[in-house]
Amino acid sequence: MQSLSRKYRPKTLTDVLGQPSVVQTLTNAIRSKRLHQGYLFVGQFGSGKTTVARILAAMENCTETPGLHPCGKCDVCSGIYEGRHVDIEEIDAASRAGKVDQIRELKKNALYLPVDGAKTKTFIIDECHRMSPEAEDALLKILEEPPKHVRFILCTTDIKKMRPAIQSRCQRHEFRKIYWTIMSDHLEKVAQSEKIECDKGSINLCAKLADGSMRNALENLSKLIDYVGGKPISVDDAQKLFGAVGEMLYYDMFDQVIGGEEKGADATEGFRVINKMLAGGAEFSTIYYGIADHLRNLMIGMSCSKAGEFIHLTEDGKRRLRDQLKRCQKRENSIMAISRSVSQLHDAKKSVDFNLSPEIALQNWLVQSIFAFRQ
Ligand SMILES: Nc1ncnc2c1ncn2[C@@H]1O[C@H](COP(=O)(O)OP(=O)(O)OP(=O)(O)O)[C@@H](O)[C@H]1O
Ligand SMILES: [Mg+2]
Ligand SMILES: [Zn+2]
Repeated sequence: MQSLSRKYRPKTLTDVLGQPSVVQTLTNAIRSKRLHQGYLFVGQFGSGKTTVARILAAMENCTETPGLHPCGKCDVCSGIYEGRHVDIEEIDAASRAGKVDQIRELKKNALYLPVDGAKTKTFIIDECHRMSPEAEDALLKILEEPPKHVRFILCTTDIKKMRPAIQSRCQRHEFRKIYWTIMSDHLEKVAQSEKIECDKGSINLCAKLADGSMRNALENLSKLIDYVGGKPISVDDAQKLFGAVGEMLYYDMFDQVIGGEEKGADATEGFRVINKMLAGGAEFSTIYYGIADHLRNLMIGMSCSKAGEFIHLTEDGKRRLRDQLKRCQKRENSIMAISRSVSQLHDAKKSVDFNLSPEIALQNWLVQSIFAFRQ
């Protein structure tokens, strides 16, 4: 079966999600027919670099409807979208192009005009930070004075490893982590067109665990579909599969951290929540991000009049957060306590990086946070 991420690869700029500045700049460039000869696409893995490189090539070279809406069907478009058009060469610098020979071959190829219906010979170089120094030298020469019929699109996830001289010869575009709510909406549409029944909680989890990468989000959804095998999918299935923590446990945890009217502090219930999280198979890093997310929501809730613009929760989540915020407002030092809890969380992460057990690190964090709210 074709993977969801390949099946749902966008074919026009309007389908590219979560990268508004890239889309706007390239849309204007296409409209005014002012494309650069060299582009550099930088940033987050699985966020659209190769996709946009192919779209750019299709917009320019489509033989039916060149421009913002390439037809997607002509030989050139279909060749590009399947990654097999002779005039649109995709090179993976992590493998062969790392060697200088392949860049030399590329330079030779670049001298010939396109042969198979395309207007421009396009070279898409993926992972270009992994080229050898000799290959970079060779590429630099041709980037300095490329033949008129040639375009380069260099893609990298690690701009720091690229030579400034190469960077400065290209127009640079940043591909950012895609916000999880955007991915979650997309996954919902994909599930619908695949005729998969699943609740919003399961989709949200696939998106939240994707670390800003749409490819990861789609792969999470595929995995979940395979795991459940034809039945309707619920958030419980997703939590089991991904070893994730039930969202409500974070609210339980912070009920203990913030506390209520009581004097004194008691960490017992909080420790029980930590045990439940770990017993459910969650990794420290998952719990860490969950706690960080919750602290962020509290911080926004305490400091923004229009918090709803920045916080996206289920109805249950909203109700419980509102309740916790009310209790925070009753304390004088909540903002300080939240920010202290954030830095204690960073300390907990560091100590786990140095091999302290996750259980001890989380217990330390919990006790310190409980006291921070009561000072
Ligand atoms: N911005 C986006 N909008 C919609 N779908 C996207 C987007 N980015 C990625 N995808 C989905 O993820 C898949 C992989 O994207 P793509 O190959 O463009 O990522 P990439 O940035 O080149 O990643 P890598 O750095 O790993 O090469 C696409 O086929 C598509 O399904
Ligand atoms: Mg890529
Ligand atoms: Zn076409």
